[in-house]
Amino acid sequence: MKKITVLISIWLSAAAFYSCDKKATVKNQPEVFDQEVHALLKKMSLEEKAGQMTQIDIRNLLTNGYGNTDEKLDTARLKEAIKTHHVGSILNCIQAYTPQKWIELISQIQNESLQSPNKIPVLYGTDAVHGVGFMKGAVILPHNIGLAATRNNKLVTQSATVTATEARAVGLTWNFAPVLDVGREPYWSRFEETFGEDVYIATQMGRAAVLGMEGTDLTSKNTVASCMKHFIGYSAPKNGIDRTPSHIPEIILREYYLPPFKEAIEAGASTIMINSAEINGVPCHGNKWLLTDLLRIELGFEGLVCSDWEDVIRLHTWHKIAATPKEAVMIAVNAGVDMSMVPNDYSFTKFLIELVHEGKVSMARIDEAVGRILTLKLKLGLMKKPLPSISDIGVVGSDKHQQIALDAARESITLLKNENNILPLAKNKKILLVGPTANSLSALHSSWSYTWQGINQSVYPGTIQTIRQALGIVAGASNIISNATFTFEDAANYDLTFIQKNAAASDVIVICIGEDAYAEQPGVIKDLNLPDAQKQLIVAAKKTGKPVVVCLVEGRPRLFPVEEALTDAVVMCYRPGNKGAQAITEVLYGDVNPSGKLPFTYPRYNGDITTYDHKFKETEQQLKIGVSEFSAFNPQWEFGYGLSYTTFTCSNLKVNQTSFTKSDSILVTVDIENTGARTGKVAVELYSRDHYASITPSERRLRKYTKIELKAGEKQTVSFTIKAADLQFVNNDLKSVTEAGKFDLIIGDLRTEITFNE
Ligand code: BGC
Repeated sequence: MKKITVLISIWLSAAAFYSCDKKATVKNQPEVFDQEVHALLKKMSLEEKAGQMTQIDIRNLLTNGYGNTDEKLDTARLKEAIKTHHVGSILNCIQAYTPQKWIELISQIQNESLQSPNKIPVLYGTDAVHGVGFMKGAVILPHNIGLAATRNNKLVTQSATVTATEARAVGLTWNFAPVLDVGREPYWSRFEETFGEDVYIATQMGRAAVLGMEGTDLTSKNTVASCMKHFIGYSAPKNGIDRTPSHIPEIILREYYLPPFKEAIEAGASTIMINSAEINGVPCHGNKWLLTDLLRIELGFEGLVCSDWEDVIRLHTWHKIAATPKEAVMIAVNAGVDMSMVPNDYSFTKFLIELVHEGKVSMARIDEAVGRILTLKLKLGLMKKPLPSISDIGVVGSDKHQQIALDAARESITLLKNENNILPLAKNKKILLVGPTANSLSALHSSWSYTWQGINQSVYPGTIQTIRQALGIVAGASNIISNATFTFEDAANYDLTFIQKNAAASDVIVICIGEDAYAEQPGVIKDLNLPDAQKQLIVAAKKTGKPVVVCLVEGRPRLFPVEEALTDAVVMCYRPGNKGAQAITEVLYGDVNPSGKLPFTYPRYNGDITTYDHKFKETEQQLKIGVSEFSAFNPQWEFGYGLSYTTFTCSNLKVNQTSFTKSDSILVTVDIENTGARTGKVAVELYSRDHYASITPSERRLRKYTKIELKAGEKQTVSFTIKAADLQFVNNDLKSVTEAGKFDLIIGDLRTEITFNE
């Protein structure tokens, strides 16, 4: 949360919670630094170095500070930040500016930095989580949860490049994305920012996002520095509430939460942001084991570690492991934080300078952190070209970028139910359209969309359509009977009498429900059930006798187990972004054949949150004493579920050999055939099931996926290669191993058996 500061003084020591027997040290950073970085480090004073490690919110530099309305920088405050405090980085996270305004603000900031003794440009950071959320006119793409449903890594890369290109065009060179937290806790209010519950999808798509953002040359016009976040375990709060403690045994941490970060580091991610919360009683910002032993020594990360919002001082104010704010700075920097998102004063800088003088933070540690910051600035080409060019802004909101947003939204939409093929609808059918998300822009976008919360619809570009508008454009306004208003809470959106009165004149009732926009703590809920007022819309619609189609526009699975049975079709839309309404309309009318697959298990009940990769015993149901069956896994919809307007069959699952070792691999092939009447895309997923292992194996684990398109009647052989490492798990010694034995390989309803020999 971006608001609260409380000061309480209690001292508790910040002992690392995991033991580490490694004696290795961090790779000798000064050696890896470029000569230019060395030369700068030599010239810089301690004050300049501490300033480089400081990140400030731009609102502190605007006229009227936080209350700013004229979008102007206050020259005196800007000078104070750059000249007096030598601030190395600035961020913003509330207000969206036009591209022109961004150019003006960033140019002013960089021009000021060029007046400083060493002319070190400012690194500007922003949350461009699914498009440049803080820029008017920027393209907003589907949130990660929708991208995960596409099962199309290429779309993830393309989406990330759109974001990077639009950010870079205005001088925003550092993006606080991708979110690599694995979404295994649907209560968590940032679930929509994740790639869902599966580790492999998060790992592959996280990699795709880093590559899309960073490319191969960080000086190029379509790249920015990415920021993997939030290291680590943020998505698994014990009580589901944002920024609250998690309890994660190291074996679980390594099995389910670490792989996306490991992969993104290998893909070349430049920076990482730390989890605000604590794991097993140790706040991540004060956890040296995590930030140095694991991240630096074991994973070999050489980039920049930045704090999350106010999280250094929060070691004192929230977590109470530091008796004073100054002690908090000492703990965080010594644990491995290179840059503090302070972000509202210069206390971090001041304390850090004092701590160095007192010998409590070493100069070597400062040089290491500053060296990393300077290295990034160098890699981004900021030293040579600190100023953005107005001539670059043409790319913002371009047709090409809109097309990628549309492609991604189309492939994300997931058809969860379609009784009697009620969908697709003919365009001359009269639709009675109701519900709070039917005419909402904010619900289609949610967090990090033109504002932090995404809730302020007045700042959305006028060109974006709501579902109501998009349906009207395609089918003609006279075919859409609707009273849906722009405001989620309006009573009209829950008006049951409107349904009763207008049903007779309609052929089908489309109910758009779900969630309005939210980000972080304001999105906390205590019940996954949809509010009663939304459920009642389904009940009322069913009573009319007309077919009922439900569109779910939501960032996490909201439950309606009783009312679901009253529906004829259900379309999961996630947070599809600028082109969401068009994509949903195209799916409803059949202009696009849906191909999304659920990236999470859609629970049926609050009390049964079980992921698809559960352990066997988790599905046990004791019917009476002594009588059990293993069929208790009964979600509303399973992970990987998603229908199409055509049908696909899988046949001929084959392996080129039935046993293998570490030195070879298995080639798996399967025939996929479109047996329906129209072209469609389909995600092909390969799961494995370990027969016996030293750690209880999961019922199944996703190991590979791909997506293909087939015309009616077309058949294609899809192949995957499986190596020993693809089947590994973390054992009791915290090592990733593949144990000898039998595994099932599963695609669709087909299964074959292979044996791994050590
Ligand atoms: C969020 C981060 C975000 C930062 C800056 C924090 O509240 O947790 O994800 O990058 O704010 O806006």
